[in-house]
Amino acid sequence: MAAAKPRPLVAGNWKMNGLRRSLATLDAVAAGYDASLKARADLLVCPPATLLSAFAQRAVGTRVAIGGQDCHAREAGAYTGEISAEMLADAGASAVILGHSERRQYFLETDAIVAEKTLAAWRAGLVAIVCVGETQAEREAGKTLSVVRRQLRRSIPAGATPANLVVAYEPVWAIGTGLTPTARDVAEVHALIRGDLRRIVGAAAAGQVRILYGGSVKPSNAAELMGVDNVDGALVGGASLKAEDFLGIAAAYRD
Ligand code: 13P
Repeated sequence: MAAAKPRPLVAGNWKMNGLRRSLATLDAVAAGYDASLKARADLLVCPPATLLSAFAQRAVGTRVAIGGQDCHAREAGAYTGEISAEMLADAGASAVILGHSERRQYFLETDAIVAEKTLAAWRAGLVAIVCVGETQAEREAGKTLSVVRRQLRRSIPAGATPANLVVAYEPVWAIGTGLTPTARDVAEVHALIRGDLRRIVGAAAAGQVRILYGGSVKPSNAAELMGVDNVDGALVGGASLKAEDFLGIAAAYRD
């Protein structure tokens, strides 16, 4: 008998967007997370750090989980402007996105840095959502699979389990562009990730790690993308800023 699939996760990465008035969006997401959706998928909202505490307090009792978008590897110290995984947990986060391509590209994060941050997330009891994905040039050069493999191998340290790790495949060229890979391309990369997870978490647990797809997910393409083999949810950028669109994506998992 095939093992049960992991429970899907639909996560919203708000990036550098959101002010206090955005609490209304969280309220609308929570209100729309009705029984049929609750039974089928988890929802996570990752606002900017300034809103974490307020969002986490507001989300109490709603079953919408709150996460951070990055953390520093150290627990505390003289690192002006940085936020530790412990601080995220203290503010009410249960997860943190790590190694997002915008962090890799604009803040020069390497796989080694992502691995250190992943350990920090686990130290603080957070789920690490580790992002991987190829650039346009890498795809055109036929390097997609080797890039994703390298990122997985180097960004995820020993100690990963289905309970503390989520992998997000986000092709860089699909982020914020409205472009998405074909279902076949997504299936190919997700199958590769699933295969590599056997080595990372062991064969028995590999099927239980959630692998999210991210990059221009919207209500109109969610059902197709979420229906691809080995896609266990979505990491949503722009469309997560509107409750209606975020819920419209999550609706791919409605009964
Ligand atoms: P978009 O959904 O805006 O393409 O962003 C995807 C993303 O980067 C999520 O982390």
